[in-house]
Amino acid sequence: MASIELGSPNFKANPYPIFANVRKNDPIKQVVLPGNRLGWLITRYEDAELALRDPRFIKDPRHLLSLEQLSKQFGRIVTEQEEGSQQAHQQPVFFERNMLGADPPDHTRLRSLVSLSFTPRFIERWRERIQTIAHELLDGVQGTGTMDLVNDFAFPLPMLIITEMLGVPRDDQARFRAWSNLFIESSGDPDAFRRNADQVRAFREYLRYLINEKRKLPAEDLISGLIAAESEGNKLSEGELISMVSLLLIAGHETTVNLISNGMLALLLHPEQKELLQQDPALIKSAIEEFLRFHGPLMTATQRWVSEDMELNGQQLKRGDYVVVVLASANHDEETFKHPDELDITRSDNRHLAFGKGIHYCLGAPLARLEGQIAISTLLQRLPHIQLAVAPEELIWRPGSLIMGLRALPVQF
Ligand code: HEM
Repeated sequence: MASIELGSPNFKANPYPIFANVRKNDPIKQVVLPGNRLGWLITRYEDAELALRDPRFIKDPRHLLSLEQLSKQFGRIVTEQEEGSQQAHQQPVFFERNMLGADPPDHTRLRSLVSLSFTPRFIERWRERIQTIAHELLDGVQGTGTMDLVNDFAFPLPMLIITEMLGVPRDDQARFRAWSNLFIESSGDPDAFRRNADQVRAFREYLRYLINEKRKLPAEDLISGLIAAESEGNKLSEGELISMVSLLLIAGHETTVNLISNGMLALLLHPEQKELLQQDPALIKSAIEEFLRFHGPLMTATQRWVSEDMELNGQQLKRGDYVVVVLASANHDEETFKHPDELDITRSDNRHLAFGKGIHYCLGAPLARLEGQIAISTLLQRLPHIQLAVAPEELIWRPGSLIMGLRALPVQF
């Protein structure tokens, strides 16, 4: 069986035949992950769905493993008391106190502080702004006949929106992009984080500075809203505030960029589907769901640990075991999806797991869907003859085991 190298750029071009083999022969497979850690890959839809929503799979392992065991896997753990001190910055912080790394009741408290700002109704207010930015970005390349769809369009669009929502000044966005890139490409590899400790520290210092500026001059933005919650007492500590802002900033665009670019790549490689969408633009909603399933923005979900010994699909899992839910494999499971390796933008009953499941279901799903729909509809409307400018084999995927995203997508129109 060919090897599974989740973080390798070459693997990402077409991991599906390998996943199909694993689902058939070894669906809960033990592998050695970067940093020399053992982990179980969960590859079938049914098992993946269960692991995402079953409370026996937890996000914060500090109740299960000693600090020493965790340090062995992830580097020294920074404790609550150390946060903010000089000493804390000598090592990267791996256990951020944000909702994605928390279990109830902390998870419930943290998520409820921002959940109202991400409901479909609230997000609808951003429609016009997203549309305006999409047009502005295309105005910038219209006369040239070529562009890199990732860097000229798919990346700046969600980044401009999430930074505006949070209240990050426009002048700071370029620095922010470099940090975000580094975190995503180091994902799943604690050694890479350790090597980049200086950058991790610089990012946190920047966030601290930004939050202090907002304290002095609050505005109508999410960071100011969170500062108000922090000052109301025991709702949010400063460490949690920094961690929440960094989660929203990174999750808010590093995924949607891939929805737009992987979705467009899928259309460019399937011209009959592109034509279908151009003839019937109302298909955009089901098309976006299909792009999320077919070559979604994330290869895997984020970290989970087994909280008690259990059997899953015939495999014995032990308390403290590390599991990786492979979303890209679950979304191509032939037991759940008819012809899973075919792109069908009219697919109905598309129960993909690209946004996860259960209590950690993506908070930003309504925003990502709206951005994806506007971005791809606008591209097809303004650049109807858009096509790939290089052979598909020349496309380069970004490293890191979490995301599935292209480094660049050269197109001509
Ligand atoms: C959680 C995917 C866009 C914010 C998640 C999870 C997935 C996901 C799979 C769950 C991870 C797990 O259970 O381990 C995606 C995809 C996106 C996207 C595919 C784009 C197409 C966004 C956007 C935001 C966002 C635009 C904006 C703020 C979050 C947050 C969580 C999350 C805060 C944590 C939720 C929790 O722990 O309760 N996302 N995401 N995401 N996502 Fe997204």
